[in-house]
Amino acid sequence: MSTYQATVSAPVNIACIKYWGKRDTKLILPTNSSLSVTLDQDHLRSTTSARCDPGFEKDALWLNGKEDEIKPGGRLATCITEMKKLRKEYEDQNPNEPKISGYSVRIASENNFPTAAGLASSASGFAALVYALATLYKLPSSPSQLSLIARQGSGSACRSLFGGFVAWEMGTSVTGTDSFAVQVAPAEHWSDMHALICVVSDAKKGTSSTSGMQRTVETSELLQWRIKEVVPKRMKEMQKAILDKDFDTFATITMRDSNQFHAVALDTDPPIFYMNDTSRAIVAMVTELNRVSVENGGGLKAAYTYDAGPNAVIYAREKDMKEIVNMVCHYFPLLASTQPYEDRFKLFSAGEKVGEMPLPAGFNEGVAKVANDAASSVSRLIHTRVGGGPRVLDDSKEGLLDAQGVPR
Ligand code: DP6
Repeated sequence: MSTYQATVSAPVNIACIKYWGKRDTKLILPTNSSLSVTLDQDHLRSTTSARCDPGFEKDALWLNGKEDEIKPGGRLATCITEMKKLRKEYEDQNPNEPKISGYSVRIASENNFPTAAGLASSASGFAALVYALATLYKLPSSPSQLSLIARQGSGSACRSLFGGFVAWEMGTSVTGTDSFAVQVAPAEHWSDMHALICVVSDAKKGTSSTSGMQRTVETSELLQWRIKEVVPKRMKEMQKAILDKDFDTFATITMRDSNQFHAVALDTDPPIFYMNDTSRAIVAMVTELNRVSVENGGGLKAAYTYDAGPNAVIYAREKDMKEIVNMVCHYFPLLASTQPYEDRFKLFSAGEKVGEMPLPAGFNEGVAKVANDAASSVSRLIHTRVGGGPRVLDDSKEGLLDAQGVPR
């Protein structure tokens, strides 16, 4: 008897034009389009194995080795049901294919980054889940078609079905059939686009994206302006900036859009704060770095963006990353002393000390304070870059389920 199993990995994505607000909370239909950069799976990924078997009594899922409940009618159940439906259609059209759509599935998923790092794992997680089932079921579906289903797991997950630069077109239909992800440009188009994730220590858990954005939809008038007047224009300008590899425009829109997202969070009643003093210190240093560069006749070098938490993601071209890593480590010296920066792109040579090289000439050091305690510092820096879409892995080597169908 054959085993029906597949293992895949899917990437994280970080939005430059933020999704914030749903017009349909069950189907997860957004109030505005959004646009993101997919990050390299060599550094950050969710790996997922899916198996179906007539002997399995029920659908089951393990996240990082721990069984997670699949609540009836919940997001996980919806994604699994929708994928089984697609398989059933495929079997009806291809009568020689094995009839496996009625079998229960077991799914095991792992992230290669700690959940404690405060990085969103729902996007890569749901993208990997949907892609694993699509691979298991041998479906001919395109990434955009699969994104319709991943979207119902977590909105931002729909963008992780593609590599490179990805737009989630909000659509207008009440059934959601036109609300899916499309690729604006592949990773190779602008491969020197790098990202530096600054993990900001955050003891308390904030408001979740799901509940936060709903409260914003219910109470923020500013959000209505954003939806109607701001995002449609930015989506067009951003797609052009990406196609033209125009970093100045890319960076300007990215920073303004992050700021507007945090402004609508503040405009929510009661207000929601995601950024903290450390986040704001990073805004100040990126702003100063850009100011000095422009004053010296250059363009912008870096763009910050923040999701529903205090972590910063800094987008920059590869050539400017060394200066940026040094700058961040200058203000967060604890980072340099404990080495939570892995120099995977070999920016620094043997004698050079991260954080101890001079800041650019003319840089006003007073824009931020040098952190002197762990609580106000950055706990980790992850240097990565734009990367490709989900991958099918060799199940015999990288599968997460053992012969009995439980996580290894
Ligand atoms: C700030 O996709 O996590 O990261 O659809 O409720 O699961 P749900 O929300 P989620 O929201 C992401 C919000 C964001 C911006 C973005 O990724 O576009």
